[in-house]
Amino acid sequence: VIRLQKYLASCGVASRRRSETYIAEGRVLVNGEVTKELGTKIDPSVDEVRFDGRVVRPESHVLYRFHKPADVLCTLSDPFERPCLNQYTSSLSERVFPVGRLDEDVTGLLLLTNNGEFADQMLHPKYGVERVYWALVKGNVTEATMKQMCEGIEMGDGFGKALRARKLSEKEASRYLPKPRYLESAVELVVGEGRKHFVKRYFAHFDHPVSRLVRVQFGQYRLDDLASGTLERVS
Ligand code: URA
Repeated sequence: VIRLQKYLASCGVASRRRSETYIAEGRVLVNGEVTKELGTKIDPSVDEVRFDGRVVRPESHVLYRFHKPADVLCTLSDPFERPCLNQYTSSLSERVFPVGRLDEDVTGLLLLTNNGEFADQMLHPKYGVERVYWALVKGNVTEATMKQMCEGIEMGDGFGKALRARKLSEKEASRYLPKPRYLESAVELVVGEGRKHFVKRYFAHFDHPVSRLVRVQFGQYRLDDLASGTLERVS
C-alpha cells in the first residue's frame, strides 16, 4: 500500500510535488474514479491508476542528459504545436519528464527522467542543488556587483542569492556563448534554486539584463560537449 502521489512519482508521471498538483486537478483516476484526495492510499497490485487517461505502471528508472536548443518549450506537448520536448523524447521507450524547466530562449543542460524521487531531490529548494549558468549580460559587471550578488537581495517573491559569481574570460565563454559585444560581460552565476526566471530577474535587478543564458551544470551533471538537440542516457 502506497500513497497515490508517491506511486505517480515512482512510475515516472512527474516529481512528487507536481504529481500532487495533477491529483488536485482531477487528472488522476483510481479504478475509474477521479481522486482529488492527496492522502489516498492505493495497492498497486490491485488498484488501477490512470493519469490523463493512460494506465500508470512502474517502470525501471532512467536518466538522460539533454542539450536543449533555443525555441524549444520544456513541456511534453503543446496545444499550439510549437516545438517542445516531445519531438526528442517520443522515440524513447520510457515516458520521461523534465527535471525542472528552462525558459524557451534558454539553452543548455536539461535532465529528463521517469524517477519522481530523483526529480524532487534535484528540485526541492531545501537541498540547494547547484545550477551553474553562463550568461551574456549588458554592461560591465564589476567585482563589487558580483560580491553583492553573493550577499543576496529581496526579489519580490522572497529573498534570493547567488552562491558564486565570476567573470568568464573571452576564451572560456566562447565554448557556450557568442562573442561579447561592446559593453557586454560574460558571467558565471551559480545558484541553488530554480524559481521561475530566477537568473534573468537576478541580473536585471543589478541592471545587467541577460541577452543569452546557458545552463552548463545541474548538480553533478554537466553539459560538456553534448551537441545541441541531442539526448544521452546517463543511467
Ligand atoms: N533562470 C532563468 O531566468 N531562466 C531559466 O530558464 C533558468 C534560470
